[in-house]
Amino acid sequence: MPKIRVLPDILASQVAAGEVVERPASVVKELVENSIDAGAREIRVDVDRGGSALIRVSDDGCGMSREDALLSLERHATSKLRTASGLAAIMTLGFRGEAVPSIASVSRFRMITREADSVSGTEILVDGGKVRDVRDAGCAPGTMIEAKALFFNMPARRKFMRAETTEAAHVEHQLRLHALAAPGIRFRLRRDEREVFDLPPAAKAVDRVRQLLGTDLSRELIELPLTHGNGIAVQGYVLPASHARKGRRHQFVFLNGRPVEDAVISRALAEGFRGAVMDGLYPAAWLWLDLDPTLVDVNVHPAKREVRFHRPVDVRDAILESVTAGLRPSAPVLPQRFERPAVFERQGEAAAPAVFRSLTPQPLLPEVAKGPELQTALPPEPMPLPIARGVPDFRLLGMLHQRFVLLESDDGLVLFDPKAAWDRIFYEKLLNRGEGVLETQGLLVPVLLELDPRDLDLVLRERMALGDAGIEVESFGGNTLHVRSLPACLAVEDPRLFLGALMDELLHDSAPSARFTLERLSRVLAKRASALVLPKLNEAQSLLAELFTCELPYCASDGRPTLTEFSLRELDRRFGIGKS
Ligand SMILES: Nc1ncnc2c1ncn2[C@@H]1O[C@H](COP(=O)(O)OP(=O)(O)OP(=O)(O)O)[C@@H](O)[C@H]1O
Ligand SMILES: [Mg+2]
Repeated sequence: MPKIRVLPDILASQVAAGEVVERPASVVKELVENSIDAGAREIRVDVDRGGSALIRVSDDGCGMSREDALLSLERHATSKLRTASGLAAIMTLGFRGEAVPSIASVSRFRMITREADSVSGTEILVDGGKVRDVRDAGCAPGTMIEAKALFFNMPARRKFMRAETTEAAHVEHQLRLHALAAPGIRFRLRRDEREVFDLPPAAKAVDRVRQLLGTDLSRELIELPLTHGNGIAVQGYVLPASHARKGRRHQFVFLNGRPVEDAVISRALAEGFRGAVMDGLYPAAWLWLDLDPTLVDVNVHPAKREVRFHRPVDVRDAILESVTAGLRPSAPVLPQRFERPAVFERQGEAAAPAVFRSLTPQPLLPEVAKGPELQTALPPEPMPLPIARGVPDFRLLGMLHQRFVLLESDDGLVLFDPKAAWDRIFYEKLLNRGEGVLETQGLLVPVLLELDPRDLDLVLRERMALGDAGIEVESFGGNTLHVRSLPACLAVEDPRLFLGALMDELLHDSAPSARFTLERLSRVLAKRASALVLPKLNEAQSLLAELFTCELPYCASDGRPTLTEFSLRELDRRFGIGKS
């Protein structure tokens, strides 16, 4: 057997650095967090060559004495955590005492620091973890930390660094996160000696969002009302659904001042948009959550990016409530023609072969909700009200392959997808069941389903949620589930087939053990039931009328459009009319 040895300190730091320091942006993250913890009012970040040559973070925070500055280089040396119970209620960003020694072990490191009341400061030089020099330095109060030649002593890590522009982009994103998390601090970023941004201290979080977003998009921000309960407060802003993007880079979530990524949160955000965002896209959002620190574990991810909530359901409910209230239309919104949303532009144009590009259909998708001006003027209402709007002026032309209805509009040709329309109608009926009670239809012939014991257990545990969505179930003994009713609005012809497929989807989709929330159940039920509908031309008018009583008539519950327009201008262009 090989002998067990304790790792020498430098090696141990390098191993720890493997987790803490992934790339230049993570160095920036750790150093800026330290500056924020030190009470800085101003933080300046300089990076050269994407951070591979130089990363420098300077602050005007509390600074360190010489003794503390030397201690900060030791592993597990921290001024922020003293007892185990302290960790459970931690309010500072740092607590491990790992970051500074890790960074110093994988770079050419320099720290200059001075406390406000000391006569002179201290400068410490460290090379790959070895302290080279400690001396007096004349400097302003605060701390400057420099990491040059990152990973110079770890060739394998250095190889993992991407192009300078990529690393620089990560650094910028990281600093934007901090800027949003701490709006009262001035943040400056310089890249290769050129200024990228200089954000003055902002009085309110939304001012910081505006600084970063620019005037045009800022105008579209929708304020979410402050929601609190169960030890959690939520506040924030979103952009209308048309600005949803792939990936979560436009979702900025801060938990007690700490940027976090969390599936519970982004799921709740999507849910709050009530099916207006296409699957795979994420709404743009800025959320600040304040949570009793004992209700969350921040010590679960090496770079502290993820957290674990003790009561995820409460977090979800608070976010959902806030987003729903923020997006609730408080005045009738007339359907308006929308500039082609960027989302569809990408999908339509990138995916379509060149010959079809000139005929990109334009989904008739209006804004989900109006801008913030009206929002603040009107008090929130207790329940979302269906908005009565007229059906746009369409003339019925015919049916295409028993699938699409053809309509003539003032602008050109509109294709109408009846299945998508039914999906939207079912979904909103299920979600907005009147008085909280959904009309159900008892099944004449009992439906008995054989389930895997674990699936059966899950379904029975979620019995209440299923009941809320109009599906009453009970155990029939053994592994058999007895389904007693279905929501009446769905009018399903073959309940057995329908329920079998429904359970299959609920139990085996991407998140099989996820809870049966009303939103999820409504979405799956609407999808299943609408798939069974046979579109008929003579029902198109009444279907359109019903669709336009919905809150969001222009898209199905998964964001697919219900109506798509080909404008006359596009058709003319397609036929070469108007070309000389
Ligand atoms: N910019 C700074 N200004 C003042 N003190 C600092 C600064 N940076 C670091 N320190 C001191 O050095 C200590 C060590 O910093 P380090 O980042 O290694 O650990 P930490 O912040 O306590 O925990 P973590 O590893 O979780 O970040 C801090 O606890 C703090 O006392
Ligand atoms: Mg730290």
